[in-house]
Amino acid sequence: MHNIYPYHAKFNPEIPKKFIQEYSKKGDLILDPFCGCGTTLLEGLKLKRNVIGVDLSPIGILCSKVKTEEYEMDKIKEYSKEILKVNSNKVLIPKFPNMEIWYNDDVLKQLGELNYNISQILEKKYYNLFYLILLSCLNNCSRKRKTWNLGYIADNVLPNADRNVDAIKIYKRKLSLLYKRKDWLKNVNNSVTCIESNILNTNFTDVDLVVTSPPYPFAVDFIRYHRLTLYWMGKPVEELSEQEIGARNKRNKKQAIDTFFNDMQNIYLHIMKSVKVNGYWCMTIGDTTRKKEKINFVEWTIELFENNGWKVEKNTYRYIQNQTMAQKRIKKEAVLVFKKIKK
Ligand SMILES: C[S@@+](CC[C@H](N)C(=O)[O-])C[C@H]1O[C@@H](n2cnc3c(N)ncnc32)[C@H](O)[C@@H]1O
Repeated sequence: MHNIYPYHAKFNPEIPKKFIQEYSKKGDLILDPFCGCGTTLLEGLKLKRNVIGVDLSPIGILCSKVKTEEYEMDKIKEYSKEILKVNSNKVLIPKFPNMEIWYNDDVLKQLGELNYNISQILEKKYYNLFYLILLSCLNNCSRKRKTWNLGYIADNVLPNADRNVDAIKIYKRKLSLLYKRKDWLKNVNNSVTCIESNILNTNFTDVDLVVTSPPYPFAVDFIRYHRLTLYWMGKPVEELSEQEIGARNKRNKKQAIDTFFNDMQNIYLHIMKSVKVNGYWCMTIGDTTRKKEKINFVEWTIELFENNGWKVEKNTYRYIQNQTMAQKRIKKEAVLVFKKIKK
């Protein structure tokens, strides 16, 4: 389920899995304050932990919700048949900037028909599942430039390719992958909470373990890369991008580094309050560069934790493989574990 939608810079599932196995026990409460597409949440549930995930990104939270539900295959097949009954001329197409430039009319009509049929599903979790699959087709169905071979729209520029794709065929192919999946969740007895929010607007208590991978300074634009999806969902892309900490598009702003560290400090201190004494915080983080200058995010983080009642339990490195485009500059990342020793 981890790859149901192409989300960026997501955890290799083995990382949260190991953290969870080593630093928590069954029934514990795990928080991922930057949960992205929900990798920690799914791994936590598989290991019978209660999980909370927060992310600013509406598409990240939709993925998290979809991945942490249980489904019946018979229902999936039944709903799929209904969705694929197109040609009724009933369409549901959102309006968004430059829509007619991103999509040609035929593709838009096909996407609109699928969207309409999906909107008829009343069971929320199945609606979410089929809607997410539609959203995962949006970039491939767009007229993006040929060179944009990654699953996202990298810059704030418009397409110039005239692509004629069969959106129904693309959707069908994604559905057939769904039928083949063997990794569906079963018999979940633990609680799952997925919250679409700026982490600063949430409050939790009694967290046993934080497992996360925060945004690295100016490495990725988690909101803007998904702009087609977010427009389709009717979300305010630029407003959300403003709230995104470390967003790549902010790298050239005056005071960008100071603002990043200031914001990150507020966020870290805010999350620290939710963790129990003797609880753990496990994360992977990397140093990035801005204008060829190294930004010492790792060193800064260790110092902040040590000055606020935490001790370093583990400090190692891992080399990053299979990087997405914006991360190619980051060759390795720190694997850090802290233990809360004081209130
Ligand atoms: C490195 S990604 C996490 C990926 C995640 N580990 C996964 O496996 O999908 C960092 C996440 O931080 C989120 N983020 C950025 N600013 C945020 C904020 N102020 N509040 C909550 N989430 C935020 C981004 O949307 C992004 O999903």
